[in-house]
Amino acid sequence: MNKRPRIVIGVCGSIAAFKIAVLHKYLRDHAEVTVAMTPSATQFVGPQTFLALTGNPVITSLFEPTHSKPKHIDLADELDLLLIAPATANILAKAAHGIADEPVSTLIMSSLPSEKPIIFAPAMNTRMWQNPATVANVQVLRDRGYHFIDPDEGDLACGWTGEGRLAEPQVIAKQVFRLLGLDDVAVTG
Ligand SMILES: Cc1cc2nc3c(=O)[nH]c(=O)nc-3n(C[C@H](O)[C@H](O)[C@H](O)COP(=O)(O)O)c2cc1C
Repeated sequence: MNKRPRIVIGVCGSIAAFKIAVLHKYLRDHAEVTVAMTPSATQFVGPQTFLALTGNPVITSLFEPTHSKPKHIDLADELDLLLIAPATANILAKAAHGIADEPVSTLIMSSLPSEKPIIFAPAMNTRMWQNPATVANVQVLRDRGYHFIDPDEGDLACGWTGEGRLAEPQVIAKQVFRLLGLDDVAVTG
């Protein structure tokens, strides 16, 4: 790949959304990053933060009167890798069922896992992660060729200790570079 790869990160409504600012630190020297957010995600981190970090407009709405072509289709055409992080139980359910009703789910629906790598890095309460509905949705998505970076076990923001914590940003960055064929990029600092 000669040009810098374009990574689109779909950020969802989790307390772990702030970690995407840390993740960006590992990606920025090797990739062009654009962020799309669900309406819930904007409750956790302001779009202005991602605009300032990435230098690219943040997609928070499907309906922009300034765009003649739908932005999500342009982005889906241009991206080399789509990362959904943190992925909520809700976005996994929507992706498994083909729902496209806000920017992140619509981007997922506008991209095919057979054409570009699409990664989910889930974060949620242990019960949500172990809920039979989530387990079934994850299985459907794995079977369709989506990649997963499974959550870690540890202390969760909700006060629980267990499985469901977003994987460390460095771990996510390594997997992103591996799927872009950039295995030699060192993820440090
Ligand atoms: C403080 C707080 C933290 C939350 N953290 C998570 C989380 O880590 N994972 C998750 O799946 N849902 C979490 N939720 C619930 C989601 O925000 C909620 O299901 C929302 O509808 C998800 O929307 P989205 O998938 O469109 O971003 C949290 C809610 C609150 C109020």
